[in-house]
Amino acid sequence: FRKTNQHKVVLLGESGVGKSCLALRFCKDEFTGYQEPTIGVSFLTKSMVINDTQIKLQIWDTAGQERYHSLTPMYIRNATAAVVVYDITKKETLEKAKDWIYQLLSQTSDVLIAIAGNKYDLTDVREVDKEEVKSYAEENRLIFYETSAKTGDGVVPLFSELANNLCMI
Ligand code: GTP
Ligand code: MG
Repeated sequence: FRKTNQHKVVLLGESGVGKSCLALRFCKDEFTGYQEPTIGVSFLTKSMVINDTQIKLQIWDTAGQERYHSLTPMYIRNATAAVVVYDITKKETLEKAKDWIYQLLSQTSDVLIAIAGNKYDLTDVREVDKEEVKSYAEENRLIFYETSAKTGDGVVPLFSELANNLCMI
């Protein structure tokens, strides 16, 4: 049983995949068409009620730009969960997401990991096959959703499943 019901959730993934937009959609139900690249890390929190228990997710929205990567291991420390984001319209962002997942698995032993294929609203120009990521997620026991920060699709289901799993830790 955890002493506090506060959980640190770190968002990781290449610059431009939509980490900040996802955080904003989830925490404030807002979307902006132009979001500045994050510098270092930014924070948002969201309270949720799971099985009559209030839990608070403290979202650490990290910067995806290469120049900030030296800081990321520090942000990963003490995280209870990570959401690794890729963009379904850019294949190389999935490779980057897999790199982050590898790093998470080697740096921490008990972090809950989710992988999110964002920009689901752009499915017409998708480059990443959903079934391929689904198998990868099953093999590595990851939570997997496709999401759209723009329309909100999949965003609450993703974070709800994450929060439900955190409540069981
Ligand atoms: P860094 O902070 O540099 O790591 O980038 P980021 O991952 O936080 O990306 P950000 O949230 O800033 O999103 C980049 C751009 O992608 C935004 O300006 C949005 O226009 C766009 N975007 C984000 N999410 C979506 C989405 O779900 N659908 C569409 N169509 N565009 C999105
Ligand atoms: Mg950002």
